[in-house]
Amino acid sequence: MKIGIIGLGFVGLSFGSVLASKGKNVVGIDVDAEKCKKIRNGVSPFFEPDLERILKIGLKKKLIITDDFSLIKDCDMIFVAVGTPQKSNGAIELSMIKKAVTSIGIILAKTKKNPIVLIKSTVIPGTMQNVILPILEKRSGKKAGKEFGLISNPEFLQESSAIRDTKFPHVIVLGGYQTKFMKKAKSFFSKLHPNVSIVITNHQTAEMIKYANNSFLATKISFINQLSNICQNTPGANIDDIAKTIGLDPRIGALFLNAGPGYGGSCLPKDMKALINFADTIGINPTLLNAVEKINQKQIQNIVSLIEKTLGTLALKQITVLGTAFKPNTDDIRDSIAIELIKKLLKKKSRITIYDPKAMKNTKDVFGEKIIYARSATEALNKSQCAILMTHWKQFEKLNNSSIKYMNKKFVIDCRRILVEKKLQAEYHAIGIGKI
Ligand code: UGA
Repeated sequence: MKIGIIGLGFVGLSFGSVLASKGKNVVGIDVDAEKCKKIRNGVSPFFEPDLERILKIGLKKKLIITDDFSLIKDCDMIFVAVGTPQKSNGAIELSMIKKAVTSIGIILAKTKKNPIVLIKSTVIPGTMQNVILPILEKRSGKKAGKEFGLISNPEFLQESSAIRDTKFPHVIVLGGYQTKFMKKAKSFFSKLHPNVSIVITNHQTAEMIKYANNSFLATKISFINQLSNICQNTPGANIDDIAKTIGLDPRIGALFLNAGPGYGGSCLPKDMKALINFADTIGINPTLLNAVEKINQKQIQNIVSLIEKTLGTLALKQITVLGTAFKPNTDDIRDSIAIELIKKLLKKKSRITIYDPKAMKNTKDVFGEKIIYARSATEALNKSQCAILMTHWKQFEKLNNSSIKYMNKKFVIDCRRILVEKKLQAEYHAIGIGKI
């Protein structure tokens, strides 16, 4: 059995590496030849814990990395994991996926194989039926369900735990028609993950499950952030104790109740906007989703207001931002709230110094010489008039009174409540804790 994976981002590269490390015959394909070269040398194009180790094991076994599309011709299963970025109206951009399935279709026309094409990319309900299926059938001249299989296979891995989530998924979703191809896919996944539930449904439902999942997570976050704002204005109220306690109710669950500066990253914000846009186009007014999104956008303004309340005008003020990655253990800054915050502060003419354990290069690619890049958190705090802790990196837990010793004004905003116990000799604001 040979497996092809198209698109070597977080999903494709993690999946391919894990499969290959288990001894499967895998060909990973990406249009970016430079990126392929790096990966072939065992170097991941982005930071993801454990990925390089698993990739190297895979490369020693049967993992081939190439930009040559024709190598999918003898694959039995072809996974598509290319990006579906956001357009300005919130809808998803399908050009990459159209290009990938067009190339697959052209190769299908020439091969005697009857492979299964599985779409991992996040797509709006109806995309399989209305866009992907017609392209594949037209280009290949073959019938889906008879000469090749077509299955929606949404992905639920989180960045920063991509390898663990790929090895131990909580569910496998397979959307499509009940054909011999579906049986084959089911058998493939049940051998790969013997104790994991496999949900078999139609394309539209599988596509929607992905959006339901991410929008529910976003809803949990906006819910806790709204409560956190209420707590912050209620002397003595502590959002973490509240989250911990309601999380003990099994109907609520403990995860994704960490209040903070809002959700960021390449998925939750994009998927929320795409779902809202989709609902609008079919005549549904998504009031709850709109509120979730609005709360998220406003959260950053709360931080800016807090800084202005203490510093007054922000022009020429020295502000330190600790953490620019959208969450810890990644160097990804896509749609990171910290990046948005820096942009807002720069507009107000503040002078910004940043430090992030992994995302310095990516941050520099955005801001160039407009901000200062420190080599450590303590260096970043030197002469600062305000420190904003944005990302919950483990190493920031070590910050203490001696780390802030050389701040010009000891004023700290802790969006993740990492330093609550440190009793900092500073004007200290923890988001979600009402000052007594
Ligand atoms: C998200 C989903 O969690 C994955 O299940 C999904 O597969 C993925 O999107 C995707 O669609 O590809 P990811 O983007 O890696 O994964 O990030 P999350 O861990 O969900 O975090 C998103 C944002 O929410 C981060 O900015 C994080 O700091 C924030 N967050 C998360 C909170 O503010 N509080 C929480 O309790 C949890």
